[in-house]
Order: sequence, then C-alpha cells, then structure tokens
Amino acid sequence: MAGETVALVPTMGALHEGHLTLVEQVTKKADRTIVSVFVNPSQFAAHEDLDTYPRDEAADLRELAKLGVDLVFAPDVEEMYPENYATAIAVEGPATAGLEDKNRPHFFGGVATVVAKLLLLCQPHMAIFGEKDFQQLLVIRQMTRDLNIPVKILAGATIRETDGLALSSRNAYLTPGQRSIAPMLHAVLKDVALKIGRGGKVSRVLGTAKTRLGRAGFRLDYLEARHTVTLAPLEKDATGPARLLVAARLGTTRLIDNIPLKISDG
Ligand code: PAJ
Repeated sequence: MAGETVALVPTMGALHEGHLTLVEQVTKKADRTIVSVFVNPSQFAAHEDLDTYPRDEAADLRELAKLGVDLVFAPDVEEMYPENYATAIAVEGPATAGLEDKNRPHFFGGVATVVAKLLLLCQPHMAIFGEKDFQQLLVIRQMTRDLNIPVKILAGATIRETDGLALSSRNAYLTPGQRSIAPMLHAVLKDVALKIGRGGKVSRVLGTAKTRLGRAGFRLDYLEARHTVTLAPLEKDATGPARLLVAARLGTTRLIDNIPLKISDG
C-alpha cells in the first residue's frame, strides 16, 4: 500500500531459527515483509546438492505465518529461468576474494543474478542477509551498489546452536558422530580470535588452528583472516576491522563460519 515500507528476506527454504530471526528483525523495521523461498539452480554446480537440498514448504509456510509475514514468494524454476533465459550478472571484487569462490567458482554469479531478480520482482525498500554467509553479504552489497538497485541491505548476526555450531540447512546432513565434532569449528575460531587479540602472530595462530581442525577430522578448504570490508588478505602489520573466515568438510558436508577479529596494534 502507498507509503508503506517493504522488506524482503531471500531464502532457499528449509527454514531454521537463523532464517526466522532475519524475518523477525525486518518485521520490526518494515510495514510489510516478503520472504522468498527458491532453491536457485544457478548457484549450484552439477556435482553439488541441488537435488537433495532439504525442502519442506509446508513447514516453512507454517513458521512464516506464525511470524505474521505478509507474502511468501515461492516461484517455480521455470518462472525464474524460462526456457529462453539468457542473462547472468558477472561479479568481481569481494566475489573473487579467493574464499568461497575458490571452491565454488560459479556460486556468486548465480547468487547475484537471482538476488537481483528477486529485488526487481519484489521491489523492497530493504533486504536482509545473514552474516553467516559473510562473503555473500558483501557480494550482494557490492552488486546492489554497482547496479544502482534502490534497496538498503541489512545484515543479521549469525544464529548458533547452544554448542556454537552455526545453524544451517546443511547441518541436517551430518551423522551423529560428525555433529558432535562440528561445534569445534566455532570453538577454534573463537580461540584464534582470542590469541590474535592478545598479540599472537596471525600466520602462526592460523597454522596451529589448521592442524587442530585437521586432527579432529575436518578437511579444511580455508581458514583465513581478511579485511572486513574488502576481504583483502591482512598485511602482517594490519590493524582495524578484520574477519576470520573458515570453510571445512566433515565427510561430504561442507560447513562455513566466520567471526569478527580484533588485531592488536601493540
Ligand atoms: P539460505 O542458505 O537459505 O539463507 C538465506 C539467508 O539466511 C541468507 O541471508 C543467510 O546468510 C541467512 N542465514 C543462514 N543461516 C543463518 C544463521 N545461522 N544465522 C543467521 N542468518 C543465517 O543464502 C541463501 O539462502 C541463498 O544464497 C540466497 C541469498 C537466498 C540466494 O539464493
């Protein structure tokens, strides 16, 4: 309705407390809330889990109704990518920082394209994304700025299990044994941040943490300290806002996490 503010929460469904907290945050800020539920094929590589990605539309709709969401937009693949579809957004900057993009080269192009389409379809005043997917958040900020899409991008803090494991739809893939190891990812991040905050040498602290994670059974894709805004690698003597980012596999399940990092300048 005229004069009302609209917020969009883009999701791929299988909603958990992480998604629902984003919804709660924007329902407080905007008059109307739209949640999109779309498992976007263009951000999955052929070998990835598009076909097995968890889907539960009935449960999603129930949860969103409880939160008073005004509209759930759940398009079909054909609606978003009709037969003659031929356009994609190419992303650089934070999208080529050598983190998620190293392991998933197609990923951020697919994310940027679908998010741009969702923003143009829903025309929200604001849209919210989780810090859990930190590089994604930066890619979307950059894309909306570069393409002059008139939307305010908000960030929601990472919601965790009580043992520290960041909520993720993919946690459902973990076996009980893997699930008991998984919280170590966050514990190690916290430990690294503490040691670096106390003046530990970044490369040495990261090296020890990588060994620890490897011994616990993780296969590490990356564990890195990067600038919070540019994601550029930290110089040896860097100060200021930084972020610790990790991606690791337990069996076939890939987990990612990140936390802020304070570099001591002493
Ligand atoms: P999806 O993985 O479903 O996540 C939807 C949103 O929820 C993203 O902004 C993500 O960062 C956020 N989120 C996921 N887990 C969270 C947690 N534990 N705490 C806080 N926020 C969390 O990310 C995507 O979908 C897709 O790439 C999408 C942006 C929808 C484009 O297809």
